[in-house]
Amino acid sequence: MPLPSIQALLLLLATFWVQAPSQDTREVIRRDVCIIGGGASGVYTAIRLRQRNYSVVVIEKEGRLGGHTETYLDPDTNTPIGFGVALYQDSPETVDFFTGLGVPVERILPGGGTVQRIDLRTGEAVAPYPGNTSEALARYVAVLQQYPYLATGWSLPDVVPEDLLMTFGELTAKYDLGAAMEVISLYTQGVRYWLDYPAVYILKFMSLALMQALQTGFLQTARHDNSEVYRAALTELGPDAMLHSVVVNSSRAGDAVHQLTVRAADGTSTLIEADTTVLAVAPAGDVLQGLDLDASEASLFGRFIHGHYYAGLVKVANFAPDAQIINRGADTPYGLPDLPCTLMLEAVGVPGLVRVSYASEEPMTALAVQQAVVEDLGRVVGGNGAEAEFVAFADHSPFEMSVSREAIEGGFYQAAGGLQGHRNTFYVGATWEFPGASPIWQAVDRLMPSIVARLGG
Ligand SMILES: Cc1cc2nc3c(=O)[nH]c(=O)nc-3n(C[C@H](O)[C@H](O)[C@H](O)COP(=O)(O)OP(=O)(O)OC[C@H]3O[C@@H](n4cnc5c(N)ncnc54)[C@H](O)[C@@H]3O)c2cc1C
Ligand SMILES: *[C@@H]1O[C@H](CO)[C@@H](O)[C@H](O)[C@H]1NC(C)=O
Ligand SMILES: *[C@@H]1O[C@H](CO)[C@@H](O)[C@H](O)[C@H]1NC(C)=O
Ligand SMILES: *[C@@H]1O[C@H](CO)[C@@H](O)[C@H](O)[C@H]1NC(C)=O
Repeated sequence: MPLPSIQALLLLLATFWVQAPSQDTREVIRRDVCIIGGGASGVYTAIRLRQRNYSVVVIEKEGRLGGHTETYLDPDTNTPIGFGVALYQDSPETVDFFTGLGVPVERILPGGGTVQRIDLRTGEAVAPYPGNTSEALARYVAVLQQYPYLATGWSLPDVVPEDLLMTFGELTAKYDLGAAMEVISLYTQGVRYWLDYPAVYILKFMSLALMQALQTGFLQTARHDNSEVYRAALTELGPDAMLHSVVVNSSRAGDAVHQLTVRAADGTSTLIEADTTVLAVAPAGDVLQGLDLDASEASLFGRFIHGHYYAGLVKVANFAPDAQIINRGADTPYGLPDLPCTLMLEAVGVPGLVRVSYASEEPMTALAVQQAVVEDLGRVVGGNGAEAEFVAFADHSPFEMSVSREAIEGGFYQAAGGLQGHRNTFYVGATWEFPGASPIWQAVDRLMPSIVARLGG
């Protein structure tokens, strides 16, 4: 084989030289809006902006869109089983969002199955709390009707009424709501301990719209696959959804194009340039590391506290096929279970699979939660639960972002409202309107004119 000439070698070297990576290899992407977080609020914002012909990019940490919406595909029966967001309050925006992405919805009335109340610390049955539940719920609705502004956002009056500031325990005593507590606690799963909490959070969570849905029904996806809409959104967004990606640094001036450096799990970095940033993640934990917070943002975000909420699916023999077990305290106020604890164990229609939920005020490891649930299951199905095995698990923390009574009284939410648009940054999602996806989407629609105004629209 003839030796290559010096010239040919030099040519080869030069080619490599040209192709060799430079120091800053960041691809630059220019969009109208950069959305951080690809859960319910981020995806909805992206789809709505694209409908108005604005360009977007969605930065999502996980390898899928949907956030709290989680689905397990049972390999034996090929059945999708949701263990996160499942039911939606009926609203035109919700129907439009689903059907626009090719996902039909249907109406479903809650309840139906037989509920067993069990103190999971002992496995003993607990009697229902005495009193007339319908009458207590009617009293609860009458309280809600005094504060109609709770239905939309956090536009609290300057002097916040004492009913909203007192603990939910005090409100319960004041209006004799004990017989409504079981229903309220079931629909406000995952909040911190109900009775100690400023009442406004329970009143926001168990809203008039939610009370209405208990009577008229919720929406669910007709093909019973709660993640279908997010897979459709991923297809629709294509490369505009950046999965496995987080923001590592940002510069968000109010009068200049925003620059955000995004790093993907494979190590590649991208520079996003956008007119506006939308934060669709709870402002807590790692997402704050990459954001250039100013003093007002940092001081507001620093006041939030939150609970810890876990959900999963467990494979276990001997669990009755239609059982729904709720954890109640035999000797606790209103039968509310003490946190941390399992909240609910319910059959999901696939034999041997049980959906579980668990709440804690302090963070817990997945292993600690799973061990506690397995022990509880042992007290229900007999044996020691050793046969029980988690096939799916999700940590939904941070869940239920909240602030203290003093902060609410001191105008926290008025100040937080003033953050919308500050430094061309907008905030959507469960921190700013909760609990359900439908009210969160309605809040996005209310914010849309302000976002569009920044885009020269
Ligand atoms: C178990 C459970 C069940 C629920 N069930 C219902 C229900 O049936 N009906 C209902 O209406 N509501 C339900 N909810 C309420 C739910 O919180 C809201 O409906 C809604 O999903 C909240 O949307 P979001 O966009 O605020 O948050 P999420 O859906 O959590 O979206 C946040 C997204 O940001 C991503 N993310 C996090 N950190 C970063 C980061 N650093 N960088 C980039 N991305 C990041 C997350 O992975 C996630 O995808 C449920 C909540 C939980 C926890
Ligand atoms: C978006 O662009 C399409 C194609 O150019 C156009 O038909 C449509 O009317 C535009 N929509 C809006 C809301 O401007
Ligand atoms: C509860 O109160 C309602 C309305 O007053 C009444 O119709 C119903 O029969 C009561 N239920 C029970 C179990 O007493
Ligand atoms: C942001 O991170 C990128 C990649 O690490 C780096 O090149 C850039 O200098 C950083 N920018 C700022 C403002 O820190």
